[in-house]
Amino acid sequence: VPHTRRAFLETMAVPAALCAGGVGLPAIARAARSGERQRAFQMPTHSGAPEAAASDEDYWFQVAQAFTIDRSILNLNNGGVSPAPFMVQEAMKRHLDFSNTAPPPYALWQILEPQKEAVRERMAAEFGCDPEEIAFTRNSSESLQICQLGFDLRPGDEVLTTTQDYPRMITTFKQRERRDGLVLKQFKLPIPCEDPSEAVSLFERNITPKTRMILMSHIINITGQILPVREVVAMARTKNGGIPVIVDGAHALAHFDFKLSDLGCDYYGVSLHKWLFAPHGTGLLYVRKDKIKSLWPMMPAPDTLDSDIRKFEEIGTHPAANTLAISEALTFHQGIGGKRKEARLRYLRDTWANRLLQSGKGRVRIHTSLKAPQPLLSCGIATVEIDGLETPKLQSWLWDKHRILTVAIKHDEFNGLRITPSVYTSMPDLDRFCTAVETAMRDGLPSA
Ligand SMILES: Cc1ncc(COP(=O)(O)O)c(C=O)c1O
Repeated sequence: VPHTRRAFLETMAVPAALCAGGVGLPAIARAARSGERQRAFQMPTHSGAPEAAASDEDYWFQVAQAFTIDRSILNLNNGGVSPAPFMVQEAMKRHLDFSNTAPPPYALWQILEPQKEAVRERMAAEFGCDPEEIAFTRNSSESLQICQLGFDLRPGDEVLTTTQDYPRMITTFKQRERRDGLVLKQFKLPIPCEDPSEAVSLFERNITPKTRMILMSHIINITGQILPVREVVAMARTKNGGIPVIVDGAHALAHFDFKLSDLGCDYYGVSLHKWLFAPHGTGLLYVRKDKIKSLWPMMPAPDTLDSDIRKFEEIGTHPAANTLAISEALTFHQGIGGKRKEARLRYLRDTWANRLLQSGKGRVRIHTSLKAPQPLLSCGIATVEIDGLETPKLQSWLWDKHRILTVAIKHDEFNGLRITPSVYTSMPDLDRFCTAVETAMRDGLPSA
């Protein structure tokens, strides 16, 4: 794999010659012809404001046709990992077919890998940063671990996060505790946390003179709580000579509408297979340009790449198909529009949550703020707990009896079912879910 930008550019000259020889083009043309379904689908458009579009079922019905999901199952765990629309799947298969048709060293390294630069540019333009600040990774775990492991720290140095951050990221710090003698500090946030300034002051109060790193979620995966990233980052910059804040944006990007430049942060990790609907195994790492040099990559890269964001992509031979098909996911996202998608996901959340609150007559607790936006405290993810129904049993019954997929969250501070609809979820879907839960509230759950 070429190491430098120049090497990338130099390889660009080769494919034209080879294509002229007929190695590449027929394979591409053959793959393009395979897009049967693609020809039948027309991306719907909407001229209304996002709030008006949010409840236009005809529009969302058409959007839903882009997904090849098994509709005999109701998936309300789209937060875990999302299905990709068919055009994303097809793009990925096309690139994969091509990689295996043309000789792979030529297809992967000379044709496909350089195309990644265009994906980088498109993602940067959409999400508000410089292409030179974006690395493609396999997921949030990789993006965040690059940051969590990439700072030289000394025994006794403290890293700070909450008790609600993602278990794998906590595990990563715990390994550093065992290996490097770091000290992990965690604190609790209110559930829900409806006062952003309280969240900032909780981070601030838990900083000590030894704090060297903060990890915070942009959106907490178990409650859907959105945290004030910009304010925490600004506060942390004034402490201990500037404490780096690693932002876990696993669920945030392409879920609700914002630009990375709005956040003013230095480090941000995302899974693109969640809310961008990109291929499984795609993620993104943002590192502000002037911070790249001082962050070690997880897999060693040559010193010539010290200040190059691509040093985080030096992972050896890997498929190009996943990364390139991000481009199709981005086009699909742009076709809906970030604001419209956010409004729909909030509308879906409000629909089921308000209905259960009403029919539950005091038995239903939502561990997610349903307050109107401004500031945005939550979006498509919410967690519900029902007095008198054990969460794991309710989750199993919904799956066993109704084939409705939800997630049972069991946390030291609360428990509940996490519900995450997506852009292909319909009103009848939510009605079926609510009716099932109402039946369980009325009749109880069968004993095992
Ligand atoms: C808050 C948060 N961080 C990190 C991750 C890890 O994401 P991935 O498994 O895609 O690496 C998740 C996954 O659900 C998450 O919710």
